[in-house]
Amino acid sequence: MSKFDLREWLRMADGAGQVELISGADSALEIGAASQLNYKRKNTKALIFDQIIGYRPGYRVLTGSVSNPRLMGMTLNLGLDLDDLELVEALRGKPQQWLEASPDFAAIEVSEGPIFENVIQKDHVNFLDFPSPIWHELDGGPYIGTGCAVITSDPDTGVFNLGAYRMQVQDDGASVSINVESGKHGFQHIRKWFEKEGRAPVTATLGQHPVFLVVAGTEVPAGVSEMDYAGAIMGQRVQYVRGPETGLPIPAESELAFEGWLYPDRTRPEGPFGEWTGYYSGDVAPVLTAEVTGLFHRSDPINLGAPPGKPPHDYSYMRSVMKSAMATDALIGVGLAGVRGVWCHEVGGGRSIVAVAIEQRYAGHSRQAGYLAAQHPVTAYMNRFVIVVDQDINPRDLDQVMWAMSTRCDPDRDIEIMRYTWGSRVDPLGLPGQPAYNTRALIDACRPFEHLADFPTVAESSAEVLDRVAEKWPGLRG
Ligand SMILES: Cc1cc2nc3c(=O)[nH]c(=O)nc-3n(C[C@H](O)[C@H](O)[C@H](O)COP(=O)(O)O)c2cc1C
Repeated sequence: MSKFDLREWLRMADGAGQVELISGADSALEIGAASQLNYKRKNTKALIFDQIIGYRPGYRVLTGSVSNPRLMGMTLNLGLDLDDLELVEALRGKPQQWLEASPDFAAIEVSEGPIFENVIQKDHVNFLDFPSPIWHELDGGPYIGTGCAVITSDPDTGVFNLGAYRMQVQDDGASVSINVESGKHGFQHIRKWFEKEGRAPVTATLGQHPVFLVVAGTEVPAGVSEMDYAGAIMGQRVQYVRGPETGLPIPAESELAFEGWLYPDRTRPEGPFGEWTGYYSGDVAPVLTAEVTGLFHRSDPINLGAPPGKPPHDYSYMRSVMKSAMATDALIGVGLAGVRGVWCHEVGGGRSIVAVAIEQRYAGHSRQAGYLAAQHPVTAYMNRFVIVVDQDINPRDLDQVMWAMSTRCDPDRDIEIMRYTWGSRVDPLGLPGQPAYNTRALIDACRPFEHLADFPTVAESSAEVLDRVAEKWPGLRG
């Protein structure tokens, strides 16, 4: 049995009480608003929308698929019952293990798959036949691709890349724009194809097992196919079919997918779109728009929605735990000594605020940790603040991080500014028409190395005294 079947995932999630059915929502605004209400509640669930107004019953949209630790644990093959801390614990070291195991789980080609149950040829393609939500009130149009994976290839090596790049419906339903930001691996592939052949082949899956959303939506290193990486996560090779025209892969159990070509001058106005920064910050811009040559879907397909917005949003939990695990592995992997924890905070979309805890070993160590965390490929895109703290601070606890900042950081000496770094078109501080640089601050909130021995002692009862007292009056411990 395939571990990459979204329907099996849904059955498991439902069995664990993690799915809520919403019937009769409008794809314009109501699916988005219902999803937002879900992300803001304490116990989020996966929401499956059916009987969507104006669409065939059975044509569904799923959101919230990775919005809590149980769903994430299930999606990443780590267990059905993990709470938040158990998930974080279970993820420790995993990204590196998955990377190393990827070659053993190379995806395999098959000739048939459920995705070919329905094949729609070029002239009959209409994305508007499928629920394409307008997620937020000021969005520029319906977006059929959010929790999606766009598949490109490196024309030199043949290595595939999966990237989650949003897709707005264009040309009255005949095509979609693919909003891939410069610097992303998919963008680099597309640019190479343009230089070599004048056009770039592309396939994309719009509904599929959420593990593809996780791998496509996080910074897996270049040169590693996210399909193999997904195989390593699940302990099973991904099976894929090839798009008949482009030859690029599509996971065989995908729900809804297409293939086509991108051309340098084939763009359409795209946006605005409610972004992960929490703003409609990208404005309208010309974006590459596919010439779609084929659309494929399972009967009664499920579109995987993952709309961003002011955090918490659909994938901010996923982004935060995955990035934190990857960044921890990355800093240890480059040989940084004394790493005690890294946390990419959800409130910063898992990107803008990164806290790193270290055990200081030498003068300059804390600055080194900060610079590395700010510029490692895993964390470099759209970071704005790196805060380095000592090992007595839990980097995941923003209150503790802020306390360290307010007591161990002298702004005059301990804040470094990096300029002309890797920003984004969606930065609310960005200026229209300007290159997407940003600026970032490294905040060294560690005790100064030369005062480690004589820095004032923290004023709180020791663990020993606390344990003794808590034993005496057990109700005091929450
Ligand atoms: C749901 C979702 C939507 C995303 N939308 C975009 C997007 O529209 N454009 C973009 O460049 N990155 C987007 N991202 C971020 C990229 O998917 C992410 O940076 C990923 O690492 C890109 O893959 P790559 O590094 O292989 O290019 C999105 C991520 C998620 C999870």
